[in-house]
Amino acid sequence: MNKYILFSIFTLFINCNKNETKQIKAAVVSARQEASDIGLNIIAKGGNAFDAMIATDLALSVCYPNAGNIAGGGFLVYRTTDGKFGSLDYREKAPEQATRDMYLDSDGNVISGKSTIGGLAVGIPGTIAGLYEIHKKFGTMPWKDLVQPAINLAKNGYKVTNKQKRSFDSKKEDFIKINGKNTFYATDYKIGDLVINLPLANTLKLIQDKGRAGFYKGINADRLIQRVKETGGIITSNDLVSYSPVWRARIQFKYKELLITSMSPPSSGGICLGQMLEMIEPFDISQYGHNSLKSIQLMVEAERRSYADRAEFLGDPDFIEVPQKKLLDPIYLSNRMKSFNWDNATLSNEINPGNIIFKETEETTHYSIIDKLGNAISVTTTLNGSYGSKVFVKDGGYFLNNEMDDFSSKPGVPNMFGLLGSEANSIMPGKRMLSSMTPTIVEKNNKLYMILGTPGGSTIITSVFQTILNAYEFKMSMQEAVNAARFHHQWKPDVVILEPKKFDSDLIFKLKEKGYNIEEKFSRIIGRVDAIMVDEDGNISTGADPRGDDFSSVLK
Ligand code: GLY
Repeated sequence: MNKYILFSIFTLFINCNKNETKQIKAAVVSARQEASDIGLNIIAKGGNAFDAMIATDLALSVCYPNAGNIAGGGFLVYRTTDGKFGSLDYREKAPEQATRDMYLDSDGNVISGKSTIGGLAVGIPGTIAGLYEIHKKFGTMPWKDLVQPAINLAKNGYKVTNKQKRSFDSKKEDFIKINGKNTFYATDYKIGDLVINLPLANTLKLIQDKGRAGFYKGINADRLIQRVKETGGIITSNDLVSYSPVWRARIQFKYKELLITSMSPPSSGGICLGQMLEMIEPFDISQYGHNSLKSIQLMVEAERRSYADRAEFLGDPDFIEVPQKKLLDPIYLSNRMKSFNWDNATLSNEINPGNIIFKETEETTHYSIIDKLGNAISVTTTLNGSYGSKVFVKDGGYFLNNEMDDFSSKPGVPNMFGLLGSEANSIMPGKRMLSSMTPTIVEKNNKLYMILGTPGGSTIITSVFQTILNAYEFKMSMQEAVNAARFHHQWKPDVVILEPKKFDSDLIFKLKEKGYNIEEKFSRIIGRVDAIMVDEDGNISTGADPRGDDFSSVLK
């Protein structure tokens, strides 16, 4: 590519971490500038949002290896420019040799670390099958052209940022423990170092040449299976070959004049977001003020009740009956809030999952895309923990997920996010583990209004909940809504987590007076929301989360 073309492409990219509302024609907001630029360049070349999704996703697998992935899974929620919605589930699955008690010792106790680190933690990856499926249905550019930018990035390298260096350093011991001291990512990186990953470039080339078969069959499949086996896991070639993503019926609900579309089970995101918004709808929250005592109380109480239901009722709909309609029923939810009062916190021990009768049947990453036609893409994808299971496929250049930890290893015992689970989310061969990922698209008065989502394990749903309200109820710009201080409650443990140093001491004192247990702690998993807003006049603005290296690339 000559210098002139490079310069022309470069001038299309404008860092929009400030709020910009004019004349933006398309935008990609993701965890890394390289990935956002690559996605936007696809749109600039005439690709649609789905094409851009594939290129962005693969670029993240190169330059954001803690969560971007080719060996994890994710969810897509989309809205086409003519208002059609859909969602694709390419979540990992339990291998065929998985058993309900695979993480328990002979006394029935959970063996610490077995579902989080090493080969047994790995679920059957879904990402490449998902991207390939999306390309089949919606792609307009050749597959090979969408994979090529990620190959180039792996060959030419990406620069280590300050935050990324801290991330590498924090996991170095685990990388070495699982992969030996010469393992690729155990290098002592300095800020600005270039990371060139030729094995990953080669794996991406296989995927470029052979499509999904490049990952699920042949040399890559052999390498993956071998590495899983060496580290104590059970994935077989049949597991890989038989993996398929699923187009799921969308989950949709109203909040005032908004129509919200989000991910259905096996994610809990859509149902819980719908429950929380329904529970607070009768209250005039905009009058209480943003992050005021009353707003926080109300939202925490809705969160508490919804997470109690999450723990009991949600799991893979291909294996259990999820009472989706009842969980979102306004009367049910209004009854759930009857025990709420403004004087005292409800105690989580006094909240049980709602009484529903079955008659009938931390580290993740999110990106949002809008293309020139107005097609909207909301994708959350993950390895689960940071760098997943820490198992690195050396000759492939990538980490494997530890998504198996999102199952309940033993009902009643919390997972790595402290989330409790029940029988609904127990392990079975071929079953998908429950997720919190909440890729979401919001319409206002039948027009596209917001595209958003975030990483953050159990804090994903509450971060999406708060960001929507920040924009809609508290009239913030997209960037302000993303920046605003967040809090989180998930029923158990009975604690309100506040982002540190962002809430004043008087407010904290008043919350404590009412019986709320407050924890102000740095949590790298309280969300990094990447979002796009379209105002009533059609002006596009973006919000890239300053908590990470997240970046908005926009086309003017
Ligand atoms: N692994 C995080 C989630 O799926 O919610």
